[in-house]
Amino acid sequence: MKSLSLYFSVVTIAFLSAFTLSSSASDAHESFIQCLHLHFHNSTSISDAIYTQNSSSFSSILQFSIQNLRFASTTTPKPLIIVTPNEASQIQATVICSQKHSLQIRTRSGGHDYEGLSYVSQVPFVVIDLINLRKIEVDEENSTAWVQAGATIGELYYRIAEKSRTLGFPAGVCPTVGVGGHFSGGGYGYLLREHGLAADHIIDAHIIDVNGTFLDKEAMGDDLFWAIRGGGGASFGVILAWKIRLVPVPSTVTVFNVPRTLEQNGTKLVHRWQSVASKMDKDIFIRATMQRTNSSQGNLTVQASFSSLYLGTVDKLLPLMQESFAELGLTREDCNEMSWIESILYFAGFQGQSLEVLLNRTQPGRLFFKAKSDYVTEPIPELGLEGIWPMLYEDEAEIGIIELSPYGGRMDEISESEIPYPHRSGTLYNIQHLVYWQEEGDEAAQRYINWIRRLYDYFAPFVSKSPRAAYLNYRDLDIGMNNINGYTSYKQASIWGVKYFKNNFNRLVKVKTKVDPHNFFRNEQSIPSLLAWRKNGGN
Ligand SMILES: Cc1cc2nc3c(=O)[nH]c(=O)nc-3n(C[C@H](O)[C@H](O)[C@H](O)COP(=O)(O)OP(=O)(O)OC[C@H]3O[C@@H](n4cnc5c(N)ncnc54)[C@H](O)[C@@H]3O)c2cc1C
Ligand SMILES: *[C@@H]1O[C@H](CO)[C@@H](O)[C@H](O)[C@H]1NC(C)=O
Ligand SMILES: *[C@@H]1O[C@H](CO)[C@@H](O)[C@H](O)[C@H]1NC(C)=O
Ligand SMILES: *[C@@H]1O[C@H](CO)[C@@H](O)[C@H](O)[C@H]1NC(C)=O
Ligand SMILES: *[C@@H]1O[C@H](CO)[C@@H](O)[C@H](O)[C@H]1NC(C)=O
Ligand SMILES: *[C@@H]1O[C@H](CO)[C@@H](O)[C@H](O)[C@H]1NC(C)=O
Ligand SMILES: *[C@@H]1O[C@H](CO)[C@@H](O)[C@H](O)[C@H]1NC(C)=O
Ligand SMILES: *[C@@H]1O[C@H](CO)[C@@H](O)[C@H](O)[C@H]1NC(C)=O
Ligand SMILES: *[C@@H]1O[C@H](CO)[C@@H](O)[C@H](O)[C@H]1NC(C)=O
Repeated sequence: MKSLSLYFSVVTIAFLSAFTLSSSASDAHESFIQCLHLHFHNSTSISDAIYTQNSSSFSSILQFSIQNLRFASTTTPKPLIIVTPNEASQIQATVICSQKHSLQIRTRSGGHDYEGLSYVSQVPFVVIDLINLRKIEVDEENSTAWVQAGATIGELYYRIAEKSRTLGFPAGVCPTVGVGGHFSGGGYGYLLREHGLAADHIIDAHIIDVNGTFLDKEAMGDDLFWAIRGGGGASFGVILAWKIRLVPVPSTVTVFNVPRTLEQNGTKLVHRWQSVASKMDKDIFIRATMQRTNSSQGNLTVQASFSSLYLGTVDKLLPLMQESFAELGLTREDCNEMSWIESILYFAGFQGQSLEVLLNRTQPGRLFFKAKSDYVTEPIPELGLEGIWPMLYEDEAEIGIIELSPYGGRMDEISESEIPYPHRSGTLYNIQHLVYWQEEGDEAAQRYINWIRRLYDYFAPFVSKSPRAAYLNYRDLDIGMNNINGYTSYKQASIWGVKYFKNNFNRLVKVKTKVDPHNFFRNEQSIPSLLAWRKNGGN
């Protein structure tokens, strides 16, 4: 009886609070829309740019840029409204009205956030989806470009190639990644060792701040301009566009992808790769990717794939490899010469297709996934590597991937505090641990997530420590989170903050406190404001 009455009262409370919540949410929603009408400069364009949950295209607009199926289910919290601005004034209006009506903003460019932070929130929220702001202007004479935040890196690469085959840009591999999130979190690909990160090449930016003010580099000042180049855009405002410096690329580059199983000395090769890959000439980048595969004997084995971009011809590459990584046994037949833009297609898995595929914003084969990251400063001993392989034979590791990206080169030349991204000299390589799966539901997700957490635990003795560093763009809420309701102390936020940013976290907090003191732009891993925290009893 007792438990029954308890049951009833819980249900009643749940019912009542659901009722009040939905009615107040609907009020907030109504007055929010009225506010937008007031603030939109051109109210005839408002219906083009606003989708309520009742709009017939609400769901397709929302789903379109969800890149991780973990956050595409019916139980995933949905925004009250999606705004797809066509111009800056509509973003300014949304920023002002969201504050007035206590709605949180999530800004989405390409939607690749690993934890869905650009389109999921546990509190009532609005999504600003920048899909219509994706103009790209390439100035080949000055080797620069203006790129609106909603553009993808595929679109950027395509527009650069339209103008020049000897200009490129050092950003990521997957063409559907958005420049809004990618550049503001660092951003790298096969040009990392020659040219560093995408964020290292930003020379101006346009942002809408918490007051709805439009700022360029000069107006925002050095601190904010520093913060958004690697510190994550979402803590500071809505980035509208970047001005970037393009980089020269030779007219001929060489690529290869050489797989080696354990039976083909895979362990020894990965072990050796660790000490050579970051020391080689900076015009070569060799990534090592480990995954399980069926051996010729029919049992499981591990395959390490050595995938490489060399900024030169095969004739120059072969002696270079002979000198520093002869063990791989690279032959001329393994290599392909092509233009840099063709290498973009090659690494994205679109070799031989027309360049237009870069304009396609739909990622082929979306799955459920969870990823984690590490940085390595000393080679993992062979025995350590051998301990990884059995984990890749477990059921959950059917699509488990360990991806090693070499550092050195240009990364060694840039100081840790130049921009917020701190993982520079002394780093041998970055690790991305990844697991994909295809089954729906929480139970399946939990099994795969548990697997990757165990893998991550296994790596602990071999990777960077105090802090165990992580890459913001490989977002991982396991490493620490802000409070969803209420305030988060500096101390609590620094648990995840120093992993992504090391000492730069302190400067990010100072910038945040200055530009968004009341912590309007927030999420599970946004930079905290000292003022918001102190005002609420922090010390
Ligand atoms: C398939 C895939 C491949 C990837 N490959 C690479 C790679 O090769 N190299 C690499 O470095 N990373 C890679 N990533 C990671 C990628 O860099 C990050 O997920 C990046 O943040 C994605 O940017 P986005 O605009 O697509 O994501 P979104 O989900 O739109 O945004 C990510 C974060 O940035 C914020 N944000 C987005 N736009 C803005 C804006 N205009 N103003 C303010 N804040 C904004 C969001 O609110 C969110 O917090 C990959 C990710 C995926 C899913
Ligand atoms: C207002 O928006 C509509 C629809 O987007 C457009 O056709 C019209 O030209 C705009 N008017 C002004 C003054 O910008
Ligand atoms: C959606 O439509 C229903 C029924 O037409 C209406 O009662 C409700 O207020 C609408 N909600 C929103 C968010 O517009
Ligand atoms: C290159 O930059 C100069 C100086 O800023 C500018 O005057 C010129 O118009 C630019 N070139 C092009 C093609 O835009
Ligand atoms: C593996 O490496 C050893 C030397 O370390 C070499 O003798 C042997 O030929 C290699 N095997 C293969 C399949 O490459
Ligand atoms: C390996 O073999 C299994 C069983 O025959 C099969 O289901 C699986 O698809 C194979 N995997 C690969 C990578 O070829
Ligand atoms: C697969 O079988 C071969 C031949 O029996 C054996 O040499 C090898 O070690 C096995 N590999 C694994 C990963 O068990
Ligand atoms: C874009 O890519 C998706 C996924 O590969 C594909 O289904 C779709 O047909 C492509 N669209 C166009 C216009 O080519
Ligand atoms: C925003 O406006 C408030 C009130 O006008 C002002 O005090 C504050 O300095 C402004 N913030 C920024 C970042 O300009």
